[in-house]
Amino acid sequence: MGRLTLGNINPHVVEAKYAVRGELAVKSEVYRAKLRKGDKDLPFKEVISANIGNPQQLDQKPITFFRQVLSILENPKLLEHEDVLLSTLGYKTDVIARAKWLLSHVGSVGAYSASAGIPAIKESIAKFLEERDGFPADPSHIYLSGGASSGVNTLLHILCASPTSGILIPIPQYPLYTASLSVLNATSVPYYLDEASNWGTSLDTIKEAYNTAKDNGTDVRAIVIINPGNPTGASLSEAEIRSVLEFAAQEKLVVMADEVYQTNVFVGKFHSFRQVLLRLQQEDPAKFGDVELASLHSISKGMVGECGHRGGYFELLGFDKEVEEQIYKFVSITLCAPVIGQCLVELMVNPPRPGDPSHELYEREYGAIFRGLRERATALYEAFKEMEGVECGEPQGSMYLFPSIRLPAGALEAAARDGRSPDEFYCMRLLEATGVCLVPGSGFGQKEGTLHFRTTFLAPGTEWVGRIKKFHKEFMDEFR
Ligand SMILES: Cc1ncc(COP(=O)(O)O)c(C=O)c1O
Repeated sequence: MGRLTLGNINPHVVEAKYAVRGELAVKSEVYRAKLRKGDKDLPFKEVISANIGNPQQLDQKPITFFRQVLSILENPKLLEHEDVLLSTLGYKTDVIARAKWLLSHVGSVGAYSASAGIPAIKESIAKFLEERDGFPADPSHIYLSGGASSGVNTLLHILCASPTSGILIPIPQYPLYTASLSVLNATSVPYYLDEASNWGTSLDTIKEAYNTAKDNGTDVRAIVIINPGNPTGASLSEAEIRSVLEFAAQEKLVVMADEVYQTNVFVGKFHSFRQVLLRLQQEDPAKFGDVELASLHSISKGMVGECGHRGGYFELLGFDKEVEEQIYKFVSITLCAPVIGQCLVELMVNPPRPGDPSHELYEREYGAIFRGLRERATALYEAFKEMEGVECGEPQGSMYLFPSIRLPAGALEAAARDGRSPDEFYCMRLLEATGVCLVPGSGFGQKEGTLHFRTTFLAPGTEWVGRIKKFHKEFMDEFR
């Protein structure tokens, strides 16, 4: 064999599409590097990465309690100077106590941990799940992961046995799912969310997608639900979750609940799939007793925003023991999730409580981040309302807005000449003119004939929003 080429490497990797870090994002990094070198040729002074939910790359500050504990975990010698920590650096006694507790269970954060995670951290997660849902959890079914992404990767590897293995995926979706299924040479079975009802999840649409796939010979094995949604921000009501679980029980589908945005909710309320399933199991054990549910959470989002630390977990309910042994083996092949990330999971699920010395500051920081996100989302939404041909639902949650755009025929023709989809063409021109990096709707999937873009609402200030508005007007004038 000669050199590696695009034609002889794994074709499934070549086929996979992951727009949130695609051509636009790469170009935005080139611009950023140019600006850093002092290049004055670009028509903007700063690149805004609104393409990815990366809170601390933008303005979100880490929560003090978390980082104080981590600092001791990374450098336990600090404990030789507790007086300095307390009196000079403003650490509180609960920071020191938590760091000591974690160190007693973790040992060194530079060591591998048990494959599925540090047992004491799994116990903290189980307590959190019990408090959140009102039903006890068994730590032995909890697996720490390097972000939710690695949990999704594990689960899809287990679920996909052949090219006809199919997974129901919401559209629009976070492209981790379709990209991973491409890499695994398995089948995505798209079901469309309903833009007209604020991106609601409709059981009829799911059933239709399921039946069509089955008729085409696809062995549909699981349904993915992203709740709250990315890119939509929509939270499912309890009734919607019940109906999805009924369907899963009837068709024997594994349910994968991606709940990484569970605290990013502005409209409605977060209901966990776990809680609703456990309630249904109480009401009708025969029907719901063996539903298989994998639910995932992460330190990347919410007010934690520690995505660079790569931490998360998934919990399994109702899985066959031998299958779980294979899941365990699979996660053990990559040894363990990053240990500092595991510690952050512990801090996320077990934050300072009322009365604890660090509680007041924690609450203040947490509340300010939450309100800041809502204010930014609202400001962006108001700006979109003023833009010709742009329609956007009220911000509901997660970290994104996903407006639809109608572009003039001239723009569609110019995009075709450029070999791009119209939304991609729009986002490319926007990036070139303003330094603002968005992701075209085609990166998430959208109904035929519709165009969208996704933006995070993490960047501070309104100056960049003004840049988008000005570009939009000029773009529309150029092509109308
Ligand atoms: C819906 C969804 N799931 C999973 C992830 C991956 O998150 P993590 O950083 O935990 O791997 C993201 C990241 O944006 C996401 O939006």
